[in-house]
Amino acid sequence: MSGKVAIVTGGARGIGRGCALELARRGFDIALVDMLPAETARTIAEIEAIGRHAMGEEADVAEHARAKAVVAAVVARFGRIDVLVNNAGRGNPSGILEITEEAFDRTIAVNLKSCFNYIQAVAPVMLAGDGGRIVSMSSLNAHTGGVTSAVSKFSYAAAKAGIIGMTRALAKELGPTIAINAVCPGIIETEVGNSLTKSRGPELAKKIVLNRLGTPSDVAQLVAFLATAEPFFITGQAFTIDGFQWEI
Ligand SMILES: NC(=O)c1ccc[n+]([C@@H]2O[C@H](COP(=O)([O-])OP(=O)(O)OC[C@H]3O[C@@H](n4cnc5c(N)ncnc54)[C@H](O)[C@@H]3O)[C@@H](O)[C@H]2O)c1
Repeated sequence: MSGKVAIVTGGARGIGRGCALELARRGFDIALVDMLPAETARTIAEIEAIGRHAMGEEADVAEHARAKAVVAAVVARFGRIDVLVNNAGRGNPSGILEITEEAFDRTIAVNLKSCFNYIQAVAPVMLAGDGGRIVSMSSLNAHTGGVTSAVSKFSYAAAKAGIIGMTRALAKELGPTIAINAVCPGIIETEVGNSLTKSRGPELAKKIVLNRLGTPSDVAQLVAFLATAEPFFITGQAFTIDGFQWEI
């Protein structure tokens, strides 16, 4: 895989950091796109310790024009883009009766429009090169709508379900040169953790068939498979990775 390049949005920490490190272990040079400079610098150092090159771009993935500039900077530095992981995203705890229009728009922009922004920016580069793989981070929430106690409610579910529709449609538009898939994690424990799991980890684990919460590394293995497996006959799909959450 040496010489190949991956962009990971939201790659400074959490699941995105896990994906970036796993792709680096598989020989990719990595471009991180994030809004957290200190965490980005830490992850860059970890990638370099693996022996790969890394760069960071401080950007809000919701900004359309910025995505084009970020992709241009990655091409200027590395000369190619083989993989895009649309991972950056953020929950929203508000229900339909209290959410503001601004908060709804922001949830859709950060989780869904961000995928449009980066796919539109990288597609010409991939189509002009050796093709590529795109993996976008949806959520189990897109299928289930979450539960009433979930930290992320309907606006997040709508954005994450939108990613699945976008994935199916763009697989048709961009194939056969670019393969694009979505990943739908269940509850994943990150370094920062989320308020749902902070105190309820052991209780939640009992309701998961594989008896534990997921880790960034669990998700990274699936993302790296979708980004690297050869031969490859998978596109337009959404893969659930949740240890089988049968009751949550
Ligand atoms: N952790 C879970 O249980 C879980 C479950 C299902 C889906 N997901 C999805 O996985 C992805 C990663 O989640 P995580 O749990 O690792 O979260 P996290 O908060 O630990 O990491 C998210 C990263 O994305 C970055 N980010 C957020 N908004 C951004 C923006 N507008 N522009 C640029 N960067 C931005 C953050 O700075 C951070 O580095 C998200 O899309 C999330 O919705 C997480």
